[in-house]
Order: sequence, then structure tokens, then C-alpha cells
Amino acid sequence: MAWKTLDEVDLDGKVVLVRVDINVPVENGKVTDATRIEKIVPTVQDIMSKGGKPVLLAHFGRPKGQVVPEMSLEPLVPALEKAFGFPVKFAKDCIGGPAKEAVGALQKGEVLLLENTRFHAGEEKNDPMLAAEMGALGEVYVNDAFSAAHRAHASTEGIAKILPAAAGRLMEAELKALEAALGDPERPVTAVVGGAKVSTKLDLLGNLVAKVDHLIIGGGMANTFLVAQGIDVGKSLAERDMADTAKEIMEKAKAAGCKIHLPVDVVVAREFKAGAENETVANDACPADAMILDAGPKSVEEISKVFENSRTLIWNGPLGAFEIAPFDAATNAAAAKAAELTREEKLISVAGGGDTVAALNKAGAAKDFSYISTAGGAFLEWMEGKVLPGVAALDQQS
Ligand code: 3PG
Ligand code: MG
Repeated sequence: MAWKTLDEVDLDGKVVLVRVDINVPVENGKVTDATRIEKIVPTVQDIMSKGGKPVLLAHFGRPKGQVVPEMSLEPLVPALEKAFGFPVKFAKDCIGGPAKEAVGALQKGEVLLLENTRFHAGEEKNDPMLAAEMGALGEVYVNDAFSAAHRAHASTEGIAKILPAAAGRLMEAELKALEAALGDPERPVTAVVGGAKVSTKLDLLGNLVAKVDHLIIGGGMANTFLVAQGIDVGKSLAERDMADTAKEIMEKAKAAGCKIHLPVDVVVAREFKAGAENETVANDACPADAMILDAGPKSVEEISKVFENSRTLIWNGPLGAFEIAPFDAATNAAAAKAAELTREEKLISVAGGGDTVAALNKAGAAKDFSYISTAGGAFLEWMEGKVLPGVAALDQQS
């Protein structure tokens, strides 16, 4: 890894432009999950303790280059002040007069938040002019937004080429955790991939079978793999036209020495609703009028054994319809097992993706995982083996 950390750049007396991801869920003006805000606190405080003045660049929602008042970052100021423990000033634009004046007036011991970068069309276009205007406001650039690093935008990519650049503490932690899980992991490595569709995770599966020793497939995607083996899955969600693709993935896995694990037993129901009447059957015994909504206890037993024999686990996607009980049982049990092995220091466990983190939190397991990424799309693209532009731009610097 060629990027610099906060320890390797001189911040004393400098205006430090910090790209953060504070794209947090807000309901009725209140932040409902402050995780992303809490995670940037070490970076902001570290910059301040090193004598720098942090100026935050961030997006919020998808305003598509227009000023959309509902997507202003200003309402987040109180939540940021609470998290940082320092006063947070706000500028009504991320470039131009308002930004320059606010930067000029910024005192040591204060943080400045600039308005939504996506209010400018040049942000998503990675317009060099916008990057230059933002860059002109500060002397050092720090990227702490791993979860937005899959976007090649002016504030995540373009600007890194203009100023001396470094990774913030959260970016550093994310990259180190992911490197430990897939870059140069302790083996055996197991990946859990769940979710509805094979078609949305093709690149992911293709990359993983070449890298991991065990691939556990769950959720709707597992049904598609069962169909590929000639198994009738009744009314289950499955992409029947993807059966050949699933076969190719299985062949690729075999050639690469990666063992794919599909559910050996399944929980089936006739209705998709919480508490629906259900039964557990072998994976080839789903009744014609029923659908598979979870993996069964024998599958969980097999998954637990795989976990016990692994040193590293990377997890993206639930094993069943975790939003509705009791179809969250397999996800909860497997998550509890991973948490237990991690606590016993037998396993390094890394997870990411919005649904996945929600499922692991619901299972009460997230706190015991070695690392939980703040990223959704970026985590997935990273697992797919893609280069993240925001990270690559930091690498070019050194
Ligand atoms: C996210 O919330 O996943 C990141 O902030 C990226 O947002 P985007 O998907 O709108 O680019
Ligand atoms: Mg997103």
C-alpha cells in the first residue's frame, strides 16, 4: 500500500481539506444512525491535535448537480459538534466566496463543514475546474471516505492529484482490514455471499472463487445454484436464466480449488411474511407451491464447521430472508458462530454492505467481528477486485 497516513504529512498550521462520508440516514431532521459520523472522529481530532484546521468536504444524497435544499448538509452540524466535541462552522457552498470567507475566518479548535459537493454538476463529472477550486481552499487533502471511494468524483479523486494527499484514520483502518481479509489473508479463507440475485454479484463471485478456499452461498442466489444442479425449487426466488452462469462459476471454483457450499436443507413456506407457517426439508424437496426462505439447521451445522476450520472470514449478504422472523435463523446462528470464534481469537472476521451490517447488528454479532466496514457499494466493488478510484488517487501521490 503506497498511500500516506496522517503521520506522514505535515499538518501544523495547515488548512486540511478532509473528504468524509456523512451520507447518514436522517428522519425528520434527526440522524437515525450516526455510525459514519462517529467513525470520522479520530481523523478530525487527530488533524486538530497535529495543529491542522479541518475543512470537511462531503456529499449528501443524490442531488444530481442541483441545489436541493432538502439535501443540505447544514442540519448535520449539531450531530457533528456532539461527536467531535468542537464547534463546527458551516459554509453555504463548497467553493467560491462563501467557502473562502469561512476558511479565512476559521480558528484553531474549530471545524468547518462545506455544503454538499454534489450541488455542483462538476462533482460527479470529476471536473478538474471544480477540483481546482476546492483544492485552492486548503493546503493538504485527506481522504477519509472509503465508502465513497468507488466514485471517481472531483472531491474523491480529482482533488487528490492537486494537493499533497493522505488517507484518514478510517480510510486507513478500512484498507488494512480489507487487505487482511482478501489481499494477503491467513488461510483458509471463507467468504459468505448472500442476497437475492446472482446477476448483481457475478463479478463478486468470479473474483472470490479465485481467492478464497470456501465460498458459502446463501439467500435467493443459492436457489439459482440449486436450479443449476437440476433441483426443483418450487416457487422460490431464483434466476432460472442464470443457471448456466452458476454452472460456470461452479466449474471455475473447482478449477481454482475453492469449495462452494450450498444449503443442504432449507426452510420453506407458502407465504412471504413474518411468522409464516414453515417446514424444514432437504434442498431437493421444496414443495411445488412453496418457496425457500432460509437455510436449515444442517446447513448451519456445515457452515459452523467451515468457520471452525477457517482463519479468515469475509461476509457480504444474509443467508435467508433475515428481515422476517423466523427466516433470520440461519443468518443469526452463523453470525453468532463467527462472533464466538472471533472472540476466541480463532477467526479474523470482516463484513460490509448495508444489509449485511443490519443483519449482523440484528443478530447482536457485529460488535464481536474483527472489522465492520462503513461501506456498501465500495465494499462490494473492492470484493469484486476492482480498483477504487479514491484509493488509487492516494496511491499515485507517493
Ligand atoms: C453510500 O452511501 O453508499 C455512499 O455515501 C455513496 O453514495 P452514492 O451511492 O450516492 O454514491
Ligand atoms: Mg449507496
